[in-house]
Amino acid sequence: MPRKPLIAANWKMYKTPVQAQEFFKLFLPLVANHDRDEIVVCPSFTSISVVIAAATGSGVAIGAQNMHFADEGAYTGETSPLMLKAIGATHVILGHSERRQYFAETDELINKKLKTALHHQFIPIVCVGEVLAEREAGKTEEVLLRQTRGCLAGLTAGISAAEASPIVIAYEPVWAIGTGKTATPQMACEAHALIRAEVARLLGNEVADNLRILYGGSVKPDNATTLMNEPDIDGALVGGASLDPQSFAKIVNY
Ligand code: 13P
Repeated sequence: MPRKPLIAANWKMYKTPVQAQEFFKLFLPLVANHDRDEIVVCPSFTSISVVIAAATGSGVAIGAQNMHFADEGAYTGETSPLMLKAIGATHVILGHSERRQYFAETDELINKKLKTALHHQFIPIVCVGEVLAEREAGKTEEVLLRQTRGCLAGLTAGISAAEASPIVIAYEPVWAIGTGKTATPQMACEAHALIRAEVARLLGNEVADNLRILYGGSVKPDNATTLMNEPDIDGALVGGASLDPQSFAKIVNY
């Protein structure tokens, strides 16, 4: 079965609830009846509920940008999977490079969150990607393999293809995030092929064949088509260009 592309907006720490609603008023008519791709918007926690209400009946799914691994507990400032489930979030971004860089998230922690996400039937979007110094030092492969293995650790034993099927991986070269520099399609494809081969080794060919690998890092309306035409790029994780309804709709309608 062909993999359905997934185009996800990561709004990061932008937009109040009212601004989020305004986005949806303009955005939804631009993607009405769009069925070719799965569309997901991940606002900040404070906007998730209003955005879910705004998106009702539209086919646009709503996700969170992060999540704790525990169902509940004394974790001040954190948000649990049960809370996100209760309000209707379906997707969750895990291990974004900004979480790794500024909030010290490790592969081990992301792995715990991934297991929780699968347990609660979220569609997890697990982020991997090298920083510039690693690419320049020729360490891209090593970093991507380490992150992929670390994030998926422990899933090999006893997970069925059906259980693993929600997993989405986003390859986001850190040097391309918010910089206007995009990986060339060839760089992205090499990274995606490496990740897919490693997932095949860890979780089997069926999981790897069904795995959607998104590209993220300065995806814009004018480069979306080139990237999305690559057979091994199964979608995009979009930051800056997802904040504007016209621009995000152009990317969705690549
Ligand atoms: P930009 O699209 O702004 O480069 O951000 C990419 C990103 O971090 C998405 O998660």
